[in-house]
Amino acid sequence: MRLISSIEAVRRETLLMALEHKQVGFVPTMGSLHDGHGSLIERAVKDNHFVIASIFVNPLQFGDGEDLDSYPRSIEKDKQIAEKAGVDVLFVPEVEAMYPSEIATKVVVSKLSQLWEGASREGHFDGVATVVTKLFAIVGPCTAYFGEKDFQQLQIIRQMVVDLNLPVEVVGAPTVREADGLAMSSRNVYLSPEERLAAPILRVALDEGLNLVRRGERDALVVMALMKKIVESEPLAVLDYVAAVNAKSLEIPEILHAEIRLLAAAYIGKTRLLDNDGLTLTE
Ligand code: PAF
Repeated sequence: MRLISSIEAVRRETLLMALEHKQVGFVPTMGSLHDGHGSLIERAVKDNHFVIASIFVNPLQFGDGEDLDSYPRSIEKDKQIAEKAGVDVLFVPEVEAMYPSEIATKVVVSKLSQLWEGASREGHFDGVATVVTKLFAIVGPCTAYFGEKDFQQLQIIRQMVVDLNLPVEVVGAPTVREADGLAMSSRNVYLSPEERLAAPILRVALDEGLNLVRRGERDALVVMALMKKIVESEPLAVLDYVAAVNAKSLEIPEILHAEIRLLAAAYIGKTRLLDNDGLTLTE
């Protein structure tokens, strides 16, 4: 595995791959890699001739008062994980290389970006869409892998790729979980031992919500009320939102049908955790 920090050097690599008709897999990350990232990389290695992973903690997607400065960074461990998983090039640009001057152009995926996470974290998805567009412009034609753990982000990126005709195929991969159901996330390291025990409450709320739907409930508000009650039953959890939505529009439908997704976000102590799960209704 080669570590590359220069944009031009990555372009040279992918140009060479294109000339050799080799498929490129791309896994964008903010580092602090865990098994969730590992599974994305392994999938990319399986599907492609050549795999690039990037590590870039993108300042543009953090709001004032958010955890940009304290965001977990573990580059030495990340290098080992990436190499072991089969990455060919680890792209780790400096902030100055990605944003040499104040950025005047932003990518805004309207509607989808305003809901849920977007409502709680103003401007967050504009920052994500902008940096992912820049990364796609650097890497070029590729298949890019994102975790379903950030389901709204995944849907926004899918929409953006269609809207802007980006030469990228987007693949979403299932959330990887700890043994007790907690979705793997770089931010889980912030949790104290007591908070860590409380954190799977989001998974419990999603499971119970899905069970209610499986038993025949089709009123999204009833499902959401149950999920809310479950999250609020955990004394260490402060609920941000729960939602039962259409998986494409991310809006709450009058009657749950077709592909649905349950979303949940809560603070456990100071740590903001997200989770989601879904199913497809056929009747
Ligand atoms: O999901 C992430 O790690 C980030 O939002 C991404 C997609 C790498 C953009 O910075």
